[in-house]
Amino acid sequence: MRTPVLEVRDLSVHFRVDTGRLFRHDYHTIRAVDQVSFDVHSAETLGIVGESGCGKSTLARAILGLVRAHGGSVQWLGKELLGLSEEEMRGKRREIQLIFQDPSGSLDPRMTVGQIVAEPLRTFYPSMSKLQVRERVQGIMQLVGLSPQQINRYPHEFSGGQCQRIGIARALVVNPRLVVCDEPVSALDVSIQAQIVNLLKDLQKKLQLSLIFIAHDLSVVRHVSDRVMVMYLGRVMEVADRDSIYLKPRHPYTRALIESVPIPDPVKERDRARRSLEGDMPSPLNPPTGCVFRTRCPHAIDECAREVPALETLDNGNQVACIRHREIVGETGDGRRETEAGSG
Ligand SMILES: Nc1ncnc2c1ncn2[C@@H]1O[C@H](COP(=O)(O)OP(=O)(O)O)[C@@H](O)[C@H]1O
Ligand code: SF4
Ligand SMILES: [Mg+2]
Repeated sequence: MRTPVLEVRDLSVHFRVDTGRLFRHDYHTIRAVDQVSFDVHSAETLGIVGESGCGKSTLARAILGLVRAHGGSVQWLGKELLGLSEEEMRGKRREIQLIFQDPSGSLDPRMTVGQIVAEPLRTFYPSMSKLQVRERVQGIMQLVGLSPQQINRYPHEFSGGQCQRIGIARALVVNPRLVVCDEPVSALDVSIQAQIVNLLKDLQKKLQLSLIFIAHDLSVVRHVSDRVMVMYLGRVMEVADRDSIYLKPRHPYTRALIESVPIPDPVKERDRARRSLEGDMPSPLNPPTGCVFRTRCPHAIDECAREVPALETLDNGNQVACIRHREIVGETGDGRRETEAGSG
């Protein structure tokens, strides 16, 4: 079995928030990330999907030590990252890079593209000569589809898609092994999104990178991911290989997300029995007991309110946190399809 490069176990991040007014405090705890476990393998892309507010960015930041975790473990190449000092974490930050959602907002408008892309090199490779830095920056600009001649231009001279290419160049210039992309296309025009998704997919293959690709929409990660993890209210609902997630989703939340992706063909869209997600996500200040998805789940029964469903690992390695997933996909208790059981 392959050894993962990143192993996250029972990772939890809580925020204490004050919902009181004026002089009356009213403290609550938001479990933004609640006992999340998953692996990322070498040269693999893991998609992470869930509605806005489900904890994706907090999870990404906790992996990089940018927000304090309250429990659990994050192992990078077999070494624990949680609890490392700032100094010890600095070296790891070269190996694990982050790409942000808002391309133009994350670039310093006073710096040229050359300076922006070179900045991490100066931090991690201070002995590099000026010429080496320039050559490396121009090489990486070319790799991400920017012209090396644009090295002295400023971010405002570039489109949103090109700014995201600059962000990607800045992340890749230090030769990372894992790149965490936090909604890298959500702020871009739909017409540009596919170009950036394809670029990341190509770069992942070419450089044999591991990628975590975060999105709020399952259709965005479909093209890039080897496996997909679905989150809801801070918890993992399902982790499965791409084909299983899209062709045989087990968790009712995954199924609802797939059904809520619009089909471009208006006839098919109208004819389709849409059972898309109803209602809003409950307040993270007051999440449901038991299964956090139960207030929107069409399959919920009384038992779902009693205990948090465990993340069950199936024979094929996929995982699902739902007590009724077998019934939902039409399997009997022994794993056979109901139709086969009936005919045999
Ligand atoms: N610094 C913070 N202080 C308090 N609550 C926060 C903070 N950051 C995030 N949250 C809350 O944590 C939850 C998860 O947020 P986030 O990780 O940004 O979700 P996503 O990236 O999936 O949209 C939300 O309820 C959000 O309001
Ligand atoms: S455990 Fe119950 S409420 Fe939760 S997803 Fe499964 S059926 Fe729905
Ligand atoms: Mg986010």
